[in-house]
Amino acid sequence: MSFKVPRGTQDILPDQSEKWQQVEKVLRDLSHVYRYKEIRTPIFESTELFQRGVGDTTDIVQKEMYTFTDRGGRSLTLRPEGTAAAVRAYVEHKMFGQPDQPVKLSYIGPMFRYERQQAGRYRQFVQFGVEAIGSADPAIDAEVISFAMDIYKKVGLKDLKLVINSLGDKETRDAHRTALINHFEPSIGEFCSDCQKRLEKNPLRILDCKVDREHPLMANAPALTDYLTEYSAEYFTKVKDYLDRLGIPYEVDPNLVRGLDYYNHTAFEIMSTASGFGAITTLCGGGRYNGLVEDIGGPDAPGIGFALSIERLLLALEAEGVALQEDDQLDMYVVVMGEAAKAKAVELVSTFRANGISADMDYADRKMKAQMKTADRQGAKYVIVLGETELEEQAVNVKEMETGTQEKVAFAELVNFVLQK
Ligand code: HAM
Repeated sequence: MSFKVPRGTQDILPDQSEKWQQVEKVLRDLSHVYRYKEIRTPIFESTELFQRGVGDTTDIVQKEMYTFTDRGGRSLTLRPEGTAAAVRAYVEHKMFGQPDQPVKLSYIGPMFRYERQQAGRYRQFVQFGVEAIGSADPAIDAEVISFAMDIYKKVGLKDLKLVINSLGDKETRDAHRTALINHFEPSIGEFCSDCQKRLEKNPLRILDCKVDREHPLMANAPALTDYLTEYSAEYFTKVKDYLDRLGIPYEVDPNLVRGLDYYNHTAFEIMSTASGFGAITTLCGGGRYNGLVEDIGGPDAPGIGFALSIERLLLALEAEGVALQEDDQLDMYVVVMGEAAKAKAVELVSTFRANGISADMDYADRKMKAQMKTADRQGAKYVIVLGETELEEQAVNVKEMETGTQEKVAFAELVNFVLQK
């Protein structure tokens, strides 16, 4: 019997995890600069939270959730996204009472969706996301978008496209809903059974249908932007003005509807335009969700956020041929000759590490030549060979691998020597 990772999941092996850590560092640094504090919520939540939060008619809730009943008979679901949980925590811990609003949260962790596996689409993937809850200021919409764009810039991506739209407010959506029903109803028999159900429940979702994408009625369906109320239109104009001020280029796409029900006003996605990037080009998605906090049992607090998966970010780096600056330098490899030298090597390696110098040594009693080969394979910057003579002299030749130059350094001076180089 041989075991494999479950379909749609992957092992991140050591030669990949260095890249993950680099990306995570960029995310941490930018969260600090933008002042979004980390929140860690459980991997599973009550199923109802997602039904209410993400929306009953979405593909996520209808088809993609990993839902199970626990031994106490509760229905729980592995989180398919992070916004509902962040908002639950905002309400549960009464963060709306904090003096500084909006409360700015960030999170990173695995999410789970039972989707068809393909390049860039996994059943377990890691999302980084942010939520700014408690402000309906278009400037915060621009901040959130700018944060997302900065992440991609910082890792070195260039082939990007920011697409934005306004989904308007409740009034906008009600008027648009009626228009959509009038548009699709006479021919709804030509659509898939899902769309037939969507017509009454949530006709906006028809525009998002993967099956009926090519139906001629899709192209001339009523656009939400034609139904924006004065407030919504003004809000959208202000968001665009801020983006202009920040020098962030964007395209307005009136067909951008997003796959989750909680959105209104600003919606956005960032796509990769790199040739060679697979069929799924969306790297990041987000938007405003005024009303969600109330739906989850809190006060009327507006919010906006985005999420992106690290998997797709790494695919985009690959497609653009961008190498992350790796930080995996082995500073010092200690080659050991004999038992007494080994005892000293253990001490020295420990001292190097205590001083922030990455160091390693042989733990397999191998011949000197084999140890030197390891040092070379690992790209060690310096190598020292410890034997009886060195122990007697309390000093050792430090070899700089790149140049081949050697310098004799007393044991007591080794750390300083490496640090000063
Ligand atoms: P979403 O568009 O469903 O939005 O997902 C956001 C991002 O997660 C996508 O753009 C993509 O990078 C990544 N993603 C989604 N599904 C997969 C998958 N199966 N495999 C790999 N990556 C995937 C949300 O989740 C919202 N909670 C975003 C948000 C936060 N809106 C407001 N605040």
